Amino acid sequence: MTDARDFVRDLAQENAAFWRDRDVRLDRGAPPAVRREQIRYRMRQGVYNELRSVELIAAWIPHVPEREIRDLLPGQLDDEQRHYQLLRRRVIELGEDPDAYRPLPEWEALFDWLVACRARPTLEKLAMFQFAGETQSCEGFETLIALAQEIDPETAELYRTRILPDEYRHAAIGRRALTLLADTPAAQAQARAACREMNERIFAAYRAHRVRVDRRA
Ligand SMILES: [Fe+2]
Ligand SMILES: [Fe+2]
Repeated sequence: MTDARDFVRDLAQENAAFWRDRDVRLDRGAPPAVRREQIRYRMRQGVYNELRSVELIAAWIPHVPEREIRDLLPGQLDDEQRHYQLLRRRVIELGEDPDAYRPLPEWEALFDWLVACRARPTLEKLAMFQFAGETQSCEGFETLIALAQEIDPETAELYRTRILPDEYRHAAIGRRALTLLADTPAAQAQARAACREMNERIFAAYRAHRVRVDRRA
């Protein structure tokens, strides 16, 4: 059997390989006006995603009996609530009404599904959201920050200093959970399948996201 630590490292690499060139939400080669609109759209949808992350973690906490993992979740919930408020405020500063935005149905469905997964084993839940999802979202934020740097440096700064460091911590909660719980071949197979399921669903949401942005642009 693969040692849990080695397994977590290998699975992280598999997820990274899945995501190579698959975050289609932003286009590095687009002219600045298009990039600006892509970044704005990310922020609108981001307000919603942060809010739903709060709801999701609240729903999961009672279904995480492993105390060592459970103890980390209220801190994450608090971070996501703060991210929601920070992003919402920034959207208002940019002259938009964040409450007027209608979330993309595909993102709504993704969060509804995750909330409904509350009764699944901790290993699967945390493989999906914290390990696969939040690791990918860190990558996504890195790209967003790099692209926003020249177009909207204040927003780039907000993401870099007030959001991204927390998201790296959330991804680490996922690694911690898997290192503790993926300690048999069966558990490792379960974690790997959960990541695959999550990655496919996020990728579908990313594609829908880009279609909507392109339609508006
Ligand atoms: Fe967040
Ligand atoms: Fe997060």
